[in-house]
Formats: sequence, C-alpha cells, structure tokens
Amino acid sequence: MLFQQLLEPESSTYTYLISCPDTGITALIDPVLETVDRDLSLIQQLGLKLNYTIDTHVHADHLTGALRLRELSGSRIAYPAMVEAVCVDIGLQEAEAFRIGNLTLQPLFTPGHTDHHHAYLLDNGTQKMLFSGDALLIDACGRTDFQSGDARSLYRSIHEKFFTLPDETLVYPCHDYEGRFVSTIAQEKTRNPRLGQNKSLEEFVAIMENMDLPYPRNIDFAVPGNEGCGVYPETISEEFHKPLSKHDQG
Ligand SMILES: [Fe+2]
Repeated sequence: MLFQQLLEPESSTYTYLISCPDTGITALIDPVLETVDRDLSLIQQLGLKLNYTIDTHVHADHLTGALRLRELSGSRIAYPAMVEAVCVDIGLQEAEAFRIGNLTLQPLFTPGHTDHHHAYLLDNGTQKMLFSGDALLIDACGRTDFQSGDARSLYRSIHEKFFTLPDETLVYPCHDYEGRFVSTIAQEKTRNPRLGQNKSLEEFVAIMENMDLPYPRNIDFAVPGNEGCGVYPETISEEFHKPLSKHDQG
C-alpha cells in the first residue's frame, strides 16, 4: 500500500495519504485547509486521483481541507455519521468497514475528546496501523475540557478500543507538537504519562481536570467551520495566523 505522513506545521496536524496499490483508490485522513494545494500536487505527482477525505472528528484547532478538496478534485467527504453535517457524503460508523479500494479501514467509536470522535484501524497486510485522531497522542491525549469532551469516556475509549489492540500496532496521531511521528500501543501503554503503567480511571481524570489549559484560540471559528466540512470565515483576525502552540490544541 502507498502511505505518506504529511505535516501541516501551523497547527502541527498530521494528514495521512493512503492509496490502494491494486486500484489506485486514494484517501486523505484529516486533511488541512492550508495544505490542500500541496496534497493535491503530491497526489497528482504520484499519478493518482483523490477519491475520499476522511475526518476523525470536528476539529477545534484548524479547518479541515475536506470541502475545498471536494471542490477541486471531486473527492467525497467522509465524517463520523453522528456529526450529521449536510456537507458530508459518507457517514462512517464503527460496525461498518470502509473500503479504500482493496484496503479496509475499520472505524472505532472513541468518544472522550469529542462525543463523536472516531479513530480508524487499517491492516496493511503485515502490520496494523491505528489513526488515533485526537483520542490518543504520543505520550499524551486530546483535551477533554471543551466541545463535548469527557475524560471518563476518553479513558474507556483508549482502554477498550486501543489498548486491546496488539502491542506492535503502529499509532499515528492527528497531532504532535514535538516533532515525533509515530508510536505503538506498547509504547503508549508503557510510558504515556497520563495513561501508561496502568493508570487508573481516577488518576487519569485527576490529571485531565488539573491541566488548566487556556481557551483554544481557534475554536470559535474552527468548530462551526468544520461542521460545514471546512468553511473559512469571512473575516479572521491576524492573531489566528500565528502558529499554534501545544496549548492551543484542539
Ligand atoms: Fe481535536
């Protein structure tokens, strides 16, 4: 399978390019509006066409490139079905595998960062790859203090849906703010400071409740924009164009 990890540096967001080697069917997981042109030229250079964009959740820190990519390339927009946005072409849910050509993406309902968050599991033939969205990050996890977040739900999602996967499963998060690219389930079980070493639910909730993070800078336009699959606001303050720090994450 063809696979590339792409970075949008302002919001430290990872976009994942996945293409079926048999059919050429191609998808982007969590594309970002600012890097739409880069992503499309890369896909063109590879001699491919973009068929799908797939979002893990309604992001609060950046705008998805889904709508713009559909306008430019005719790709279809896949979102978790429970978002119920009118711009969505394909609603994804846990019991229904999603086919990217001959590749199978298994949606995993993983609420906690948001109440509709889905991660996606792919078996590439030799290894499982987990696109963990903002539920599980490297040595961290997504915030649970806004936008329908709930620390108890996130703990259960991670333990029941992720930590039951094989230890060697590769973990590809939606963000990393320190230049790391990939982790494994074993690594997160061992050294994630919020969840590793069998941290209890109560310990996790206490950690998440005491993070004292500032109000996410972009949330007021990013959430409604992403409920429209990536609608850029008509007016936007200059401060929103500065790079995000990890405390602006969403
Ligand atoms: Fe998020």
